[in-house]
This record gives sequence, C-alpha cells and structure tokens, in this order.
Amino acid sequence: MKLLFIGDIVGSVGRKAVKDVLPGLKSKYRPDVIIANGENAAHGRGITHQIAKDLFDWGVHAITMGNHTWDNRDIFDFIDDEPRLIRPANFPVGTPGNGYTTVKAAGKEILVINLQGRTFLPPLDCPFQTVDGILERMKSKSKYIFVDFHAEATSEKIAMGWYLDGKVSAVVGTHTHVQSNDNRILPGGTAYLTDVGMVGPRDGILGMERDGVMHRFLTQMPSRFIVDEGKWHFHAFLIELDDQTGLAKSTRLIRTDEDNYISE
Ligand SMILES: [Fe+2]
Ligand SMILES: [Fe+2]
Repeated sequence: MKLLFIGDIVGSVGRKAVKDVLPGLKSKYRPDVIIANGENAAHGRGITHQIAKDLFDWGVHAITMGNHTWDNRDIFDFIDDEPRLIRPANFPVGTPGNGYTTVKAAGKEILVINLQGRTFLPPLDCPFQTVDGILERMKSKSKYIFVDFHAEATSEKIAMGWYLDGKVSAVVGTHTHVQSNDNRILPGGTAYLTDVGMVGPRDGILGMERDGVMHRFLTQMPSRFIVDEGKWHFHAFLIELDDQTGLAKSTRLIRTDEDNYISE
C-alpha cells in the first residue's frame, strides 16, 4: 500500500502545481491513496467547494485542513456533506465537519485523522486525548491509519510521533510550509515527518508576497498578506505500508520546483 501526502496547497499557483505534477507522480510511484492539505488552497485562506471538487477530480482521495479551515465561508455550505474533507478533530465539540474519515481506494480502506497543535496556535482540546478517543472507536476498522498533525512547534509534532508510534501507520506534520528532512520509521513502525512542506509560490515567504511580510517584520505595523504569484515549488511525502501490519516499510521525501521539474 503506497500513500502520497501533499503539503499545504497555497492559492492558484499551488493548485496549478498539483494539476501539473500529480499525473507524473502517479505514473512514477503508483500511490494507492493520495491525501492533501487544503487549508490555503483558496487564495491562501481556506478552501471552496469548487477547489475541493477539482482536487478530487485530479486524484486526491482526502483533504485535510488546519488553522485556516474557516477562512473562506464557502466551506460552511459543503463541509457537512463532504466526508472526504476533514478539519482538525480537536476543534470544539459542535464545530461543523468531521476530524477523521475513512477513505476507500484500490480495494483498501485507510483511516485519515486531522489534528491541530496547541503551541503558538489557538487553544483547542488536547490533540493527544482526542486521537486516543478516535483510535479507540475506529482502530479495529482499518489497519492503515494516517495522521496529519497541523502544528507549529517541532517539539509538539515529535511528541505526537512518539505518542502514536506503533499505533498508526504515519504521523506527518503540516502548517510550517517548510519541508523538514527528518523522515524516518520510528521503532514501533510508524512513519514520521515533522513537516511535509507546501505546494505553491516558491519565491514568496511561505507562499505570501514578500513585501507585505517584510513590511511587518521591519515596522511591526499591520500589513496585508497577499498570495504570491510566479513559480511554484511542490513538497510531498511518499510512504509505503506493509499490507499485513499497516505499519511503514519505507518513506521518501518529494521536493521539486517549476524549474527542475521533469514530467515523467
Ligand atoms: Fe498552511
Ligand atoms: Fe496552518
């Protein structure tokens, strides 16, 4: 079982990159399941129904979100009817949508869980206790379990990796938009990566135009962040899982950009 996870897709440049790069990755690596973080897909903030539909059309099986989940109001019209799109499971009880979903692909079922960290991010329910509850309810239903831990602090992400080692197939971080190179298989068999990175404007600052971000750093004044245009970079993570145990067999970082990409 091969799983491809695509980092935070940012704006139209990111969406174009997914559309252009995914066919080549599919033929090269033959992933059974493709999951993508879509929290920045609509001009850097949230996601729309049409964008979610496009991602599904291009081969994405499930979309995870994060702290930008509610930034585009369009989501309220479809999140409760679209089980393939999930938001962090530790959002307050009663929040629209779901924090986990079961995806069926290539004759296999995979449980996808989205959690959000609490360090340098808004206070939420405990992601550790939340994931315990989900695993208790759902663990017997699927041997493949993927966790997108949307968090800022590397320590919180590493802690989650160790906390879930041996209990899930993979713990992969999102949110920083910078790919880390600490991919490994933990001793219990869980694939781990602190952050998968992003898909979107390469020459901005985390996908935003440099001027606005720079202005804030230089003046400490408020400034508008606008999604950058221009060339893309594309970060993803490929995980191969054992069909007997559901645990990880191998991992591979994928990192390319518009100048170096050769369609295969
Ligand atoms: Fe993001
Ligand atoms: Fe985020």
